[in-house]
Amino acid sequence: MTEKHPPLCDYEGSDYQKSFWEQGGRAYEDKAEAIALKRLLPEEGRLLLEIGAGAGRNTPRYTGYERIVLLDYSRTQLRQAQARLGQSRRYLYVAADAYRLPFVDGLFDGATMIRTLHHMQDAPLALRQVRRVLRPAGSFILEYANKLNLKAIFRYLLRRQDWNPFSLAPVEFAALNFDFHPKAVRQWLDQVGFDLQRQLTVSHFRIALLKRLFPADFLAWLDAGAQLTGNWWQLSPSVFTLNHARGESLAAAAGAFFQCPQCTAPLADDPEVLACPQCAAQYAVRDGIYDFREPIA
Ligand SMILES: C[S@@+](CC[C@H](N)C(=O)[O-])C[C@H]1O[C@@H](n2cnc3c(N)ncnc32)[C@H](O)[C@@H]1O
Repeated sequence: MTEKHPPLCDYEGSDYQKSFWEQGGRAYEDKAEAIALKRLLPEEGRLLLEIGAGAGRNTPRYTGYERIVLLDYSRTQLRQAQARLGQSRRYLYVAADAYRLPFVDGLFDGATMIRTLHHMQDAPLALRQVRRVLRPAGSFILEYANKLNLKAIFRYLLRRQDWNPFSLAPVEFAALNFDFHPKAVRQWLDQVGFDLQRQLTVSHFRIALLKRLFPADFLAWLDAGAQLTGNWWQLSPSVFTLNHARGESLAAAAGAFFQCPQCTAPLADDPEVLACPQCAAQYAVRDGIYDFREPIA
């Protein structure tokens, strides 16, 4: 295999959902994200790919879609998502790397990537994969962490931060945690074949004092208004974008679904093991999770 393989941020064993969301005082951010998603999601759709689904915090919000594929590199996160959402035909759980999506081209009519691009050292490579698995005109909701936020700008101007929020290069503020410049993200989206439709700026009031003083619902209500300035300027810590897949790529053939992440040959679905007819790699299906992290043979 000659394809690049950037390092991964591994959430195996992490209690992220509990410690960050449920006990971490982030009710305001969660509500603000729910509002942004509602504004950007299409009213209906067939098959949605949720990349970096984690423990499925956002999955119940994708109400318009008939079926949702939750993809995450961490089996632990997927097991937590299963516990939250249950096992049914509506949800399919896939452990795989976003840099090598195990799906045939043009399969999905929608995709989301929320709070996940910020773990991508090679963001354009991950975005190219999303475009590959989407049908023409498919919709892609991307959230990214914005380095050009007001707090970073003030800190930089007051010389309390050495990295420059105005430069286009990503900043790695902790190992495998990146903030991106909005212009750089827009350029990548365009280069890989997306047309940007709409931008919403989110979490304007992510300030500890404000969160102590005001109820989460009130801050989310204020945020809902401020989000609407997102097409004009992006100075908030989080940005949500709606993009449409551009171009002539073909929709997937009927019945085609998985492909081998090693050699890209189509795989026949099987309830226990998926065997690649081309490179002979085999992938396990365990407890309702299709596991493409590494072949079992
Ligand atoms: C910060 S969590 C966000 C989870 C969820 N989207 C949410 O907003 O609650 C990031 C998720 O991305 C996943 N992730 C990171 N790098 C990945 C990769 N290369 N491929 C697939 N998933 C990845 C992690 O396992 C983790 O569950």
